[in-house]
Amino acid sequence: MDDLHNIIIRRTQHDNGEEDRAQAKLSRRSFFLRSAATAAITTPIAGLLVAQTAHAASRSAHNLSVSDAFHEIRKDEDAHVAFLKATLGRAARPKPRFKNLQQHSSASFVNLSLAFENVGVGAYLQAAPALSSKAHLTAASSMLTIEARHAGYLNALVGKLISPNGAFDRPISQSQIVKDVLPFIDNLNGGPDPAKALKNDTDILNFALLLEYLEDEFYDINVPKFY
Ligand SMILES: [Fe+2]
Ligand SMILES: [Fe+2]
Repeated sequence: MDDLHNIIIRRTQHDNGEEDRAQAKLSRRSFFLRSAATAAITTPIAGLLVAQTAHAASRSAHNLSVSDAFHEIRKDEDAHVAFLKATLGRAARPKPRFKNLQQHSSASFVNLSLAFENVGVGAYLQAAPALSSKAHLTAASSMLTIEARHAGYLNALVGKLISPNGAFDRPISQSQIVKDVLPFIDNLNGGPDPAKALKNDTDILNFALLLEYLEDEFYDINVPKFY
């Protein structure tokens, strides 16, 4: 458990340059929001301040290019694979050989991206409560929220609701996930059959690793091609 915590902490510190700057920005923004909230009570220009904050938020959302978003998502998937491999150690499954991941138009790429991301959310939601170690649950939850950010962004990008499931996401069953990803698996390369019962944390994390490998290779192939 301590090891896992250390891995999480090391990964958190890993991109410290960028993250420190982002954190500083966030702190400034939190401070500004607090200031705006105080102003709302004490000054007549409160409405203006709140409007400015909203305007800044919408401007910053528009400033993130689709290209930047896909590069960010790709980096996250890479980190998820590395994290699960490090966590599982020698028990980590080998990387399967995938097929049909190469996309021929940016539209089909975006559509398959959002399908994978939404499956990822449902898969982690299915898996997390079955994990027996609290450290594993913490790690899976922190990846679940990232998959949900990816899915929400991509859903909105194509004009869908941020959450097609409304206020509460739904787990996706193991058999449905297997059905969804099977068309992309050429060979398991000696790894465990994803359709088999997941009996312990190692099985569950290896199942997650299969999905992360899939997403990772999908973005590795297509992001440089389209963005
Ligand atoms: Fe991921
Ligand atoms: Fe993702």
